[in-house]
Amino acid sequence: MCGIVGYIGPRDVQPVVVEGLRKLEYRGYDSAGIATVRDGRVFVTKSVGRLQNLEEKLREAGAPAHLGIGHTRWATHGRPSDENAHPHLDCSGRFALVHNGIIENYLSLRAELIARGHRFRSETDTEVVVHLIEELYDGDLAATMRKVASRIRGAYALVVIAADDPETLVAVRKSSPLVIGLGEGEQFVASDIPAVLAYTRRVYVLDDGEMAVVRRAGVEVFHLDGRPVAKQVLEVTWDPVAAERGGYPHFMLKEIHEQPKAIRDTLIGRIAEGRDGVELAELGWPAGFAENMDRIHIVACGTSWHAGLVGKVWIEQLARVPVDVEIASEYRYRDVLRTPRTLMVVISQSGETADTLAALRAAKEGGYRVLAITNVVGSSVAREADDVIITWAGPEIAVASTKAYTTQLVALLLLAIHLGLARGTLAADKAREMLQALDNLPQLADQVLDTAPQLAQFAERYKDAHDTFFIGRGLDYAVALEGALKLKEISYIHAEAYAAGELKHGTLALITEGVPVIALATQPHLYEKTMSNIKEVKARDAFVLGMTFVGNEDLAQVVDEVIYLPQTLPVLAPVLAVIPLQLLAYYAAVARGNDVDKPRNLAKSVTVE
Ligand code: F6R
Repeated sequence: MCGIVGYIGPRDVQPVVVEGLRKLEYRGYDSAGIATVRDGRVFVTKSVGRLQNLEEKLREAGAPAHLGIGHTRWATHGRPSDENAHPHLDCSGRFALVHNGIIENYLSLRAELIARGHRFRSETDTEVVVHLIEELYDGDLAATMRKVASRIRGAYALVVIAADDPETLVAVRKSSPLVIGLGEGEQFVASDIPAVLAYTRRVYVLDDGEMAVVRRAGVEVFHLDGRPVAKQVLEVTWDPVAAERGGYPHFMLKEIHEQPKAIRDTLIGRIAEGRDGVELAELGWPAGFAENMDRIHIVACGTSWHAGLVGKVWIEQLARVPVDVEIASEYRYRDVLRTPRTLMVVISQSGETADTLAALRAAKEGGYRVLAITNVVGSSVAREADDVIITWAGPEIAVASTKAYTTQLVALLLLAIHLGLARGTLAADKAREMLQALDNLPQLADQVLDTAPQLAQFAERYKDAHDTFFIGRGLDYAVALEGALKLKEISYIHAEAYAAGELKHGTLALITEGVPVIALATQPHLYEKTMSNIKEVKARDAFVLGMTFVGNEDLAQVVDEVIYLPQTLPVLAPVLAVIPLQLLAYYAAVARGNDVDKPRNLAKSVTVE
């Protein structure tokens, strides 16, 4: 979604801000802008479309400036346009502001400000804030922002600069991430850490309700009520080049190929010596908590929700606890039935998804213990949950989630085994067998990547298909849902996933000659049943791409083409089976000439509900 970068220091601010924004491009945006302070004036340049358009306009700009803010906007209130792009100015042009999030009471504030003579130039919710600053300014920008914060409702990360105060930048955070990059004689502000890593690895992560007053010489952090905050410096240890494409044509392909490593990294230190159990020291559960829980609610969105569906099957099977899996945007507005011993699990790659975060907060308010499975250390979800399992997938840049999903699955299986052992519902030798298989999984995932040429060929052949169907039973059905989502979001081919046994209750009417059907048949106890369903679609002349384990060669007699997965325990099949589906989506998108890493209408981190 939107990105923020700010700078104060001796460098020319424009390239610093533009390069910082470029590091946040993966979040998705439709316009960009920058404001600088020079010679007691604020200069603003904005452009709809890619950052390149902004850079072209900036080439005509004048002398260097040393204080500035920039923004990439993903439209919510008002269409993508130069006027609606940030930074926004007040009437006098003395203040410039960038904002991530939503100001919920903007309509009433706008009416009030218009009545007091303010002139609005955009359709955004953000613009009310900069007019409020103008209205309430008392010569002290930080004090003014405190007053402004008391008037606005919603979620925001705000960064403001003023023509009258060329040595200060003020940043305020409520429910939308902001970090301060700490330099020597220079400081950086950003909505996400990658934007500052080219300059510093020392950051403050602002908490909700905190404000930073940023000057060249240093940064002071306060609560919004004015009390000073002693912030801990976070030393960022991850490598910025890990976020580059590394020779692959797209981030998505790179990230698909990183899965063996991501799985290995997520397992490191979590399988006990002798495979006697799972080490999840990060679970600070009180004694008896695992044994006594009587229900689990898994809440997430999109791909993370699909991971939750697989997790349900695993946890119910291994730990014998009933699990409900819900889409966060539904869950948060429902009168949810929880027992006092319910564990809430939220899954979020980014750790910033607004609906997932809201569901987490509601559960915490109700006194429930929340476990987060997330990929981003220091994200809102990670900081607000009681317990956190980090998936060590590394930064995921492509909008379509791949390695985050497989590592979420690994984390969920570790959790299921841990719970099963704690509750006595999983025998030690069975657990050992699974942990052994998990240990071998990175190597097998590597072998599955060899299916790429076969999928590229299939994708080329079916790139003009209008509809595709993904079918499977049990765990295969959960993976089919993820396969269909991947295909839709990046190739724009309509895809639907169906529980294979459900086809004949309606959807079979859509199966006609040549319609591609991807059929997953990895689960031995459901194999024969799935075969029957495959025969049903074959009888309607569908073109069927089957997927099963090596050894099930009889599938080849029924389908048109087969993808064989290397042998492992069937319970682990989802982690391997999703990889060919990711590759299929990737090659279909490439064959259709789509912008693979930034599919239309989508953003990486969905921080609005
Ligand atoms: C699809 C995709 C999305 C995300 C969803 C939740 O490829 O990436 O469906 O899974 O927006 O995001 P997180 O996991 O960051 O909460």
